[in-house]
Amino acid sequence: MSTTDIRTEIRHLLKERNAVLLAHNYMRDEVQAIADITGDSLQLSMEAAKTDADVIVFCGVHFMAESAAILSPHKTVLLPRADAGCPMADMVDVTGLQALKAQHPGLPVVTYVNSSAAVKAESDICCTSANAVSVVRSLSEQKLIFAPDRNLGRWIAKQLPDKEFIYWEGYCPTHERLTAARVREIKAAHPDALFICHPECAPEVSALADHVCSTSGMYLYCAKSPAKKFIIGTEAGILFKLREDNPDKEFVLASPALICPNMKLTSLEDILLALQTMQPVVTVADDVRIKAKAALDKMLAVPR
Ligand code: 13P
Ligand code: SF4
Repeated sequence: MSTTDIRTEIRHLLKERNAVLLAHNYMRDEVQAIADITGDSLQLSMEAAKTDADVIVFCGVHFMAESAAILSPHKTVLLPRADAGCPMADMVDVTGLQALKAQHPGLPVVTYVNSSAAVKAESDICCTSANAVSVVRSLSEQKLIFAPDRNLGRWIAKQLPDKEFIYWEGYCPTHERLTAARVREIKAAHPDALFICHPECAPEVSALADHVCSTSGMYLYCAKSPAKKFIIGTEAGILFKLREDNPDKEFVLASPALICPNMKLTSLEDILLALQTMQPVVTVADDVRIKAKAALDKMLAVPR
């Protein structure tokens, strides 16, 4: 089947099944190009919550499809590649988090959405990189547990010096591959460029940035900025829309190592097969789902 035929068949099946195709900003270019909606974790979870579609085809990684299933239990959520996981999400488990909670009784637990449904169910409130500062600021408590991303946690702590953090020491292997030495080198090679990075980067990398923000924050920042050249410190997939939306501007990836293998798994063929077979379906058992939904709903209620 030619690529054009695959695209046509995907669009046809999406209509027939009353399905919506969501794609994270890190997906392959051709997947972003065919999606109904592209966005960051926060935007996609909000879309999942409000769509009228019967089926959500989630092009992303497992925890994102799980969030969609938590927020929309009566819809069928398909994750075209069942093996698309997130190593950071896998760094925290329920038993470990329960043990940390037992060491710090009474502290609220703020959990990054890059986590399993079971871990969310053990948490008081979730956050994404786009709303993390607002979420932590919204807590009445001064001290909190933050899981699983140590880098996002430390970046929020810098913005909110009155809060005291107990960190889970998880991290994103893709973003941690970007070193401060590499950033200094690429900044020297492009002295006229602004450096923007994701808060999943190590603190010494974020410290070198002109702006630190979520993936969608990067689109807004680059579109508004009068600058003409940007060094981008996040996963390579973001370049697709940045370049498409800003043809007069130049974007340089901070390092060729900024590729998340999991985000690159989903192909057009996988999406077509998922729509043909209505598999693989992602579900969350009700006992976990109700508690995890409470943590996600609290997050969604926080004004940004
Ligand atoms: P967002 O900026 O979409 O929150 O993404 C970060 C990420 O790594 C998702 O896996
Ligand atoms: Fe997980 Fe990092 Fe990949 Fe995002 S980029 S899915 S945090 S490993």
